[in-house]
Amino acid sequence: MDLSTTFTGVKLQNPFLLSSAPPTESESNILRAFEAGWAGVVTKTIGLHPVVNVVGPKSKFLRADANSSRLSMNKRPGAALHSSWNWELISDKTLDWWVPRLGRIKRAFPDRVLVASIMAGSGSDTELRCWQQLAVACQEQGCDALELNLSCPHMDRPDMGSNVGRDKELVSIVTKIVKDVATVPVWAKLTPSTTDIVLEARGAFLGGADAISSSNTFTSLPLIDPDTLEFEINVDGLVSTGGLGGPAILPLSLAKISQLTQAFPDKSFSGIGGISTFDHALNYFLLGCGTVQVCTAAMLDHAVGPNVIRELTEGLTRFLDKQAVSGWTQVRDFVGLRRDRVVAQSKIRRPTEKDYRGGYHAEGYAPTDESAGVQRVVGK
Ligand SMILES: Cc1cc2nc3c(=O)[nH]c(=O)nc-3n(C[C@H](O)[C@H](O)[C@H](O)COP(=O)(O)O)c2cc1C
Repeated sequence: MDLSTTFTGVKLQNPFLLSSAPPTESESNILRAFEAGWAGVVTKTIGLHPVVNVVGPKSKFLRADANSSRLSMNKRPGAALHSSWNWELISDKTLDWWVPRLGRIKRAFPDRVLVASIMAGSGSDTELRCWQQLAVACQEQGCDALELNLSCPHMDRPDMGSNVGRDKELVSIVTKIVKDVATVPVWAKLTPSTTDIVLEARGAFLGGADAISSSNTFTSLPLIDPDTLEFEINVDGLVSTGGLGGPAILPLSLAKISQLTQAFPDKSFSGIGGISTFDHALNYFLLGCGTVQVCTAAMLDHAVGPNVIRELTEGLTRFLDKQAVSGWTQVRDFVGLRRDRVVAQSKIRRPTEKDYRGGYHAEGYAPTDESAGVQRVVGK
């Protein structure tokens, strides 16, 4: 069974990567991830500006009870995972810390794909050059691709993270600046917290992006505990918006991917959001993604997801085996097969053809009194 695939010119043993997050924050984690079978990893985002995280937990997991409507981050038996919530910033390690490690990781696993996630400011030419400095330093160590973090939802600076990702011009400028120096493919990771992600994607492609990664976490708040009236994550009673990941965002992220792959059917997409099994990943492939990335499920599985990657590769093997009758032998045989099944509501069949015209025609409802020529007696 051939699980391998090629994405933006990069050869992968399977289409499954760890996304940029705690599972890829250290050399030891990344080495363990490769040993476990991940074909690639995207490093925790590397930047040049110093990072200091909040006091206390940087991420927590929201769980749902089976027999009640309770949603809470409090640990309890029998509860099912709803989502992850985090307000963690990018890597708190410097570029100097990362550089030798990237080289060592690549030498230890030359056949695996190492993608460097990078982020800098974009408010001035000097800051834009920081993107180039990061890109060059990482690719010199053998990184196979660069992923631009244009999507972290909790950056204060208006010229960083999702604040850039919401601005199609800045997305384009940053992508172009990196492309000017890049010798490896450049993936732009966009924020889902925007009105029309197609606009920012177009900006990224105009800037020369080789692929779009979507989604980063969705802007969100932790819930308020009804007994204490405190947010379930807070510091001194205060909270900021943070990012929602995990099962809850799977359908939300799929909607973004569907918009993207329909608008740019010939481009490459890496799907992220809520994946823990092959059945989840299959949605992304069928909508047009060539690879998928995983974070929350891996965080909850020995920090780097050894059981998750086993399930994903076994699931893909089972799927290809079952679909041998269709003549499918590799991932690209079924990428995008359901992309065009997502249509406008008016295209969905009604009990009778004349029932609905997308709200565009005057007919269809019972005539009003006026249109039927009946004089209504007003008042008195
Ligand atoms: C604790 C935590 C830290 C993260 N840090 C980063 C980061 O540094 N850079 C980045 O691009 N995405 C970051 N992400 C987002 C993930 O890479 C991923 O896009 C998101 O969690 C959705 O995937 P999931 O549903 O599998 O968790 C982080 C997510 C979590 C939960």
